[in-house]
Amino acid sequence: MNTMNSTVTSNNETTEAPAVPVQDERPAETIIQEGVTVGSPYADDPKFKLRDVEVFYGESRAIKKISLDIARNEVIAFIGPSGCGKSTFLRCLNRMNDSIDICSVKGELMLDDQNIYDPKRDVVELRARVGMVFQKPNPFPKSIYDNVAYGPRIHGLANRKSDLDDIVEDSLRKAGLWNEVKDRLDATATGMSGGQQQRLCIARAIAVSPEVILMDEPCSALDPIATAKVEELIAEMSESYTIVIVTHSMQQAARVSNRTAYFHLGHLVEVNETDKVFTSPDHELTESYITGRFG
Ligand SMILES: Nc1ncnc2c1ncn2[C@@H]1O[C@H](COP(=O)(O)OP(=O)(O)O)[C@@H](O)[C@H]1O
Ligand SMILES: [Mg+2]
Repeated sequence: MNTMNSTVTSNNETTEAPAVPVQDERPAETIIQEGVTVGSPYADDPKFKLRDVEVFYGESRAIKKISLDIARNEVIAFIGPSGCGKSTFLRCLNRMNDSIDICSVKGELMLDDQNIYDPKRDVVELRARVGMVFQKPNPFPKSIYDNVAYGPRIHGLANRKSDLDDIVEDSLRKAGLWNEVKDRLDATATGMSGGQQQRLCIARAIAVSPEVILMDEPCSALDPIATAKVEELIAEMSESYTIVIVTHSMQQAARVSNRTAYFHLGHLVEVNETDKVFTSPDHELTESYITGRFG
């Protein structure tokens, strides 16, 4: 009797397991080759050049030798099952992982040919260039105006009040929020709707003239209408910024991104044009994920 297909009953008799149709039960680890990404992970003249990136939480390796280029002014979506390392990898791009004590990052991570992890690098300046929008909108408990003016003040981007006013207005316009808030800039930001708060956080990121905006599931706390507004905004922003968006919504990835990167168990399995990923992916694990076999 095939022991793989048998179960032991309580009176120690061995019986056949019920015949369930099993598809491919090879563990994912055996289908993934460390450091190998199928498709098109590289770009000419990339904004980010990332090579053999590994991230550890203590002894545990959450990111396993990932190499990827992120092109200038592209929107790239990171997708994959929960826990596969999307947020961890995203946070490497502006050193957000620095604040996690047990976290360490290895490999080559370059932004415009400069080492992101150079110990001499000014991390505050890095985060102004590479801004971040989080899953849950996190406005400061200050006025709408002060939320947007916060970064420009810290970075000394405006010498006069009128310059600061201009930056605040311009950022709120770009975030599609100006008409909704122009008459109540002094109102506290935490009184806004969730969707407005998230667009305010986008305005706050834009206000320091970043080159890149990282977004970690920016719509997962929003209703469909607020989500549509943020997606519209991403399309507009893609003309001026490089955007990296983590999303658990495959429809969202398909709507907003040029390329899609599929992560699995800390590996980068596939990167391709978004249309290709969702119609004829190159890797069987990507196929399984987009057809809903796991995730
Ligand atoms: N602060 C942390 N401390 C320890 N382990 C973490 C931490 N953040 C994430 N991890 C682990 O790293 C792996 C990747 O997590 P994460 O990057 O959050 O995945 P995703 O964003 O794809 O859901 C998971 O196994 C998770 O448990
Ligand atoms: Mg995450």
